Amino acid sequence: MRYSSLTAELKGLGTGRWAVHARAHNRRRAGEDIVMLSIGEPHIPTPAAIVDRAAESLRSGRTKYAIGRGEPHLLATLAKRYSERSGRVVTPNQVTFFPGSHTALYALCQTLLEAGDEILVPDPFYASYEGIIKASRASIVNVPLRPETGFHLEIAALERAITARSRVLLLNNPHNPTGAVLTPQRVREVAEFCRRHDLWLISDEAYEHLIYEGTFASPFDMDEFADRTAIIASVSKSHAMTGWRCGWAVASEELLEHLIAVSEAMMFGAQPFAQDATEFALTNHFTELDQMYADYERRARLVTELLGQSIAVRCHPPQGGIFVMVDVRPTGLSGEDFAWQLLAEHDVATMPGESFGAAAAGHIRVSLTADDRDIRTGCERIITMAEGLVGT
Ligand SMILES: Cc1ncc(COP(=O)(O)O)c(C=O)c1O
Repeated sequence: MRYSSLTAELKGLGTGRWAVHARAHNRRRAGEDIVMLSIGEPHIPTPAAIVDRAAESLRSGRTKYAIGRGEPHLLATLAKRYSERSGRVVTPNQVTFFPGSHTALYALCQTLLEAGDEILVPDPFYASYEGIIKASRASIVNVPLRPETGFHLEIAALERAITARSRVLLLNNPHNPTGAVLTPQRVREVAEFCRRHDLWLISDEAYEHLIYEGTFASPFDMDEFADRTAIIASVSKSHAMTGWRCGWAVASEELLEHLIAVSEAMMFGAQPFAQDATEFALTNHFTELDQMYADYERRARLVTELLGQSIAVRCHPPQGGIFVMVDVRPTGLSGEDFAWQLLAEHDVATMPGESFGAAAAGHIRVSLTADDRDIRTGCERIITMAEGLVGT
C-alpha cells in the first residue's frame, strides 16, 4: 500500500535516540537492577488535590465536547498570569489550550512554516523537535551551542546560521538538555536579532519554573518583541502532570487567529475536566511541588559535587531544568559509546548527548528525577568507568 512520503521521513526518528533507555527499560522489566538516570519524568505523582479536582469535574459531568480554543475560565486564568508576568494586558484571545506544549509547537510550526522555509534551532535540542518541524516540511538549521560557554546561545552563531529563507527561531529557555538559563540581556539580544532579520520567535518555556541560578526572561515580556513571539508552555514539568497533556500557546491576537485555524483542523477541543484541573493547578499552591523543586536543586548540586571529584569527566552545573550534561570527552569515547558501555558494564542508564544533536557529542545526559541514592550510585559508577578509561 502507498503512504505519504512524510511517514518515511518521520519513521524511526524517535526510536534510535532512545535506544539506550529502551534497552535499560527492558532489562529492568526483566528484573535486573538498573540505575535509571535516563528519563525526564517528574519523580512525584501529581499533587492529590489536582487529581481530586479532575475527579470532581468528571463526576459533575464535564465530559462533553469543550470549546475549541479552550475553556473560557482557563483562558482567563492564563491571560491574567501572562498579563502579570509581562506588565501588559494579555487578553484571553491571545491564549489557546493544547494537549501539551508538544502539540502547541506542532500547530505553531504548521502555522508559521512551509516547504522551503528554514527554522533556526539551537543544538543540542529537545529530541522531539525534529519530527515536529519535519512535519511542517520546513528545514532545520542547527545553531551550535558550545560547551565552553555553558551552552549559552550566542548571537555570532545565529548570524552564521541565518539565510534569506530563515523564518523562525525556536528558543528554549531554560534549556533541555543542557540546563542553560539565558540572562535577560542575552534574551533581549536574541530577540533583537529576530527583529533585525524579521523572524518569528517561538519561545519554549516548558521549564520556566525550574531555575536554580539566574532569572527567567521571555521575549514575550519585552514590549518591542511581543508581537513576533509565540510562547508554548504546560503544567507537565511544573506540576508533575506530564501524562495529563495540558499545555497552551500565547501570542498576538493576529497570530492566534491563524493558529486556531490550524488547531481546529487538528482537534475538536480538549478534555474539559483536564482543563478544570489545569486551572486549579495554576491558581493554587502545592507543598509537594516546593519539595519537588528543592529535590531537583539539591540533586543538581549533588551530581556537580560528585562528578567534580574526578578529572576523567567534566560536569556542566545546570542553571535550571531537570538534567545535567556530563562531558565524557576526556575518556576518548563518544557520548553514545560511553552510555552503551555504562549500561552494559555498570548497569546505569543515561542518554547519549548525540541523541540531542551534534553539538552535544561526547556528552551524556543525567536526569535529576531519580532519587538521591540512585544518583549517588550512578555518579560513582560513571567515575569508576571514566577513570578506568583514562587510566587514573
Ligand atoms: C524543552 C521541552 N519542550 C517541550 C516539551 C513537551 O512537553 P509537554 O508536551 O508535556 O508540555 C518537553 C518535554 O520533555 C521539553 O523538554
